[in-house]
This record gives sequence, C-alpha cells and structure tokens, in this order.
Amino acid sequence: MKTTSEWSQMKQNGEKITMVTAYDYPSAKQSEAAGMDMLLVGDSLGMTVLGYTSTVQVTTGDMIHHAKAVRRGAPDTYMVVDMPFGTYHANDDTSLTNMLSLYQQTDANAIKLEGVDCLPIVKRAVRAGVPIVAHLGLTPQSVGVTGFKMQAGTQEAAMQLIEDAKAMEAAGASVLVLEAIPSDLAEKVTEVLTIPTIGIGAGKEVDGQVLVYHDLLQYGTERLPKFVRSYADFNTAGIEGLSAYVQAVKNSEFPDEATTYKRKVFEE
Ligand code: KIV
Repeated sequence: MKTTSEWSQMKQNGEKITMVTAYDYPSAKQSEAAGMDMLLVGDSLGMTVLGYTSTVQVTTGDMIHHAKAVRRGAPDTYMVVDMPFGTYHANDDTSLTNMLSLYQQTDANAIKLEGVDCLPIVKRAVRAGVPIVAHLGLTPQSVGVTGFKMQAGTQEAAMQLIEDAKAMEAAGASVLVLEAIPSDLAEKVTEVLTIPTIGIGAGKEVDGQVLVYHDLLQYGTERLPKFVRSYADFNTAGIEGLSAYVQAVKNSEFPDEATTYKRKVFEE
C-alpha cells in the first residue's frame, strides 16, 4: 500500500495518481485488482447506493458501515473516507472528536473534508496525526447553496480558490481534490502547490483523477456530468442478465441439469 508521503513524491516524478470511489466489498475488490492508487469512500454513496437526492442525508453511521466493507475488500489500497455533512461545522472540538472517531473506526488512511471553512480543524487533525485530503471547487455538501455547477468561473473567484488551496497546503493537507472548475485554474493551482491535486471535472493538468465508480461503469446512473467518461456499461449488462433470468425461469429453462443436485433420496 502507498503511504501519505508518496503522493507528493508521485507529483514530483510526474506520475499520475488514480482514484475512484468505492462503497462496498465488491467495488473495493475490483478497484484493488485494477491497480487503483487510492480509494475514496465518498459521501456520494448517499446518491449512488442509497438513492438520496444529495449527500446531505448521509450519516456517520453510513460512512462507517460502507468504509468497513471497502477496507475488507481492499486491504492493501490507500483508503480516504469523507466526513459527512453536519459533522465538522458546529465547533472545532466536536469536529475533531468526530474526525478522530471516524478515522479510528474505519481504519482509513486519510479523511476528506470539503471547503475552506474547516481550516482550523485540518491544522488540529494533522497535529493529532490524521492525514487530510482537502476538497475545493464544487463541494457537493454545499449544493443547496451553490447548485451542481462549475465553480470559480470569474477571475476574482479563481484568485480566491488559489489562496484557499495554498491555505489548505499550509494547514497540512496531503492532497487536494479539485471538482468542477475551469482547467486553467486547476493547472495554476497544481503549479503553485507542492501537494498533489486530484481533479474531477478539472481538466488534465492536475496530478491525478478521481471518478465516481457508478459513473465510470454506468451502474444505476441515468444522467452523467459533462466531465465523466464511462469505461463500461453495467446498466445494460445488468438489465440484460436479469431479463434473461426472468425469461429462463418463466420458460422453465432454469434450473437445468447442470444447476441441480441429483441424488435419489426416495425409494421408487
Ligand atoms: O463523495 C465523492 O464521491 C466525492 C468525489 C466527487 C470527489 O467527494
């Protein structure tokens, strides 16, 4: 398994970092087998596997439940776990307590937090020994305020984001996720930081990429964001497989000889 200090080394060597979300044992197992550098137990699980309309309803219990399954599926892959909405804004002491508990209970390698408001907690968390992944740009926990759309589209907002990114690095974050921002801004942020940037909808001039598992494989998804490229179609394959099963049972073609235990237990 890679360690936190290796991410900056990869940036320096110009080696791209690969990350995907994982929410359960099979997705984690597949991602580890595929050679993924990092897994993110994202609170996007609220939408992808729990069917909520946003990440806001996700609880700490949900994150722990899913992260434990991911850890079992990918024991040798670096695992980042999201702090869910409402667990790190009330006050710094409670936020830190919540974070330490999430880190400890999930066996995570790092914890991810959204936005720049959490700077004081990032500082304290790093001092307490918790590696931090920061997340700027479109931060899905704030979509009630920002909407699901590109962020930092003006020069002023872009300059602010660069300052926020520098502050996150100074506070001790190890990695920065940049979501849905113009590619020239992402490139600039990547240039000015020594920690790696991982983009999702931030163009290619960043140090790595992250995608949501269900988008990447088209699994239960209906509409994909502009920045997603899918590499498989589980929707079609799944519906085809399930329909074939329905037909086979209706037509008494399943089970057949090969899928039946044959032993005579009753005398004629
Ligand atoms: O929760 C998540 O999946 C994320 C990614 C979009 C980076 O935060």
